[in-house]
Amino acid sequence: MDTGNTYEVRDMKLAGQGLLNIEYAESKMGSLLEIRKRFIKEKPLAGVRVGLALHITKETAVLVRTLIAGGADVAITGCNPLSTQDDVAAALAKEGVKVYGYKGENSEDYYKYLNKIIEFKPNITIDDGCDLVSEIHKKHTELIPSIIAGCEETTTGVIRLNAMEKDNALKYPMIAVNDNDTKHLLDNYYSTGQSTCDGIIRATNVLFAGKTVVTAGYGSCGKGFALRARGLGANVIVTEINPFRALQAVYDGFRVMKMEDAAPLGEIFCTLTGDKHVIRLEHMRKMKSGAIMANSGHFDIEIDIAGLKKASSATKRVRPFLDEFVLDGKNLYICGEGRLVNLAAAEGHPSEVMATSFCGQALAVEYAVKHRGKLPVKVIQLPKEIDDNIALLQLSALSVKIDTLTEEQKKYLSGWEEGT
Ligand SMILES: NC(=O)c1ccc[n+]([C@@H]2O[C@H](COP(=O)([O-])OP(=O)(O)OC[C@H]3O[C@@H](n4cnc5c(N)ncnc54)[C@H](O)[C@@H]3O)[C@@H](O)[C@H]2O)c1
Repeated sequence: MDTGNTYEVRDMKLAGQGLLNIEYAESKMGSLLEIRKRFIKEKPLAGVRVGLALHITKETAVLVRTLIAGGADVAITGCNPLSTQDDVAAALAKEGVKVYGYKGENSEDYYKYLNKIIEFKPNITIDDGCDLVSEIHKKHTELIPSIIAGCEETTTGVIRLNAMEKDNALKYPMIAVNDNDTKHLLDNYYSTGQSTCDGIIRATNVLFAGKTVVTAGYGSCGKGFALRARGLGANVIVTEINPFRALQAVYDGFRVMKMEDAAPLGEIFCTLTGDKHVIRLEHMRKMKSGAIMANSGHFDIEIDIAGLKKASSATKRVRPFLDEFVLDGKNLYICGEGRLVNLAAAEGHPSEVMATSFCGQALAVEYAVKHRGKLPVKVIQLPKEIDDNIALLQLSALSVKIDTLTEEQKKYLSGWEEGT
């Protein structure tokens, strides 16, 4: 590990490649760069310390540079032990950013680095999964008076925050950036679908065409994955616990059934639920030899890997991000240790997609600073105008122009007199 006063990363010699990757990402993130241009002029974040626990990827580096351009002091660690891009971490360290993380962190280092962000005494926290907020609320409540707000990137984090609010445990305002329409549509739906297929393919080199693929969960991420797996030629089965989502999957043309019935049919399984032990030992015992399992939900608890390890007669790492388990004489495979497969075994979302997600983060930080002391201590959403503005920025980056309402149309749409 390379350690300095303000960083701990795998290898500073990777900084050159990291810089190339960050610049490549920037070339696809025009909407976020528009915000950066404005931030450079207006410096809306001057004097604000922003502490991030986000996947340390080339796209996150573009967000970090944008926050710094707005005048913020920034410190960052990862939010998943397998998602850090070591070259990017090195490049950020070289640019003088406080950065702590490496790919393949053990749990001790994961929490040590989270504590580095806490020692930085952030005024704003940006989380992906709520670990930073949870750690501050459990062990560092002394920081809370100087925290303006927090921003949360993913569904699982928002679920945890809602639970904190319900328990009266939440002590500072939280902006659910995940709930922006622009975030959900591009990131969870379009991009998780593609990048999850990419992660499974990179880990296994499996052919999707003709395979039976089982998608657990038909929320934003599950829908995207089911759609892309079908696009690659797979026969897709969906499992759900929510009747409406299950019905939607049926009418979208998928077979819907219980996991116990899907287990003997599937050849590739992917969980995208945010729930625990969605694939259990009893399901694995019914699977065919050669079945591949992956998870693209936030935490590595969707597949009961501990149960599988215990019950297996042998295990081996076949190649990076692919482990083989011998269970009842059959070979079963787990991709990326059951961690978010698109980040563990591939590169996460394409830069174009992260541009919209991170427009949401940059504008949420600005919104929090503008409304310092006035936001309710609750989980809140950004105003719709900001979300619409992100969509416009992204359309503009794609050189797409859209119509606006005429005066006659505005009057018609807000009136009730005109009818048949
Ligand atoms: N891999 C990524 O890059 C990425 C991106 C965005 C979100 N996420 C994560 O993916 C997960 C899903 O996010 P989402 O936005 O689709 O959430 P969502 O709430 O829209 O969908 C989750 C779905 O899973 C279903 N579900 C819950 N328990 C289940 C079970 N036992 N069996 C079958 N279905 C079950 C729910 O009914 C729901 O329809 C979250 O953990 C989120 O944080 C990952």
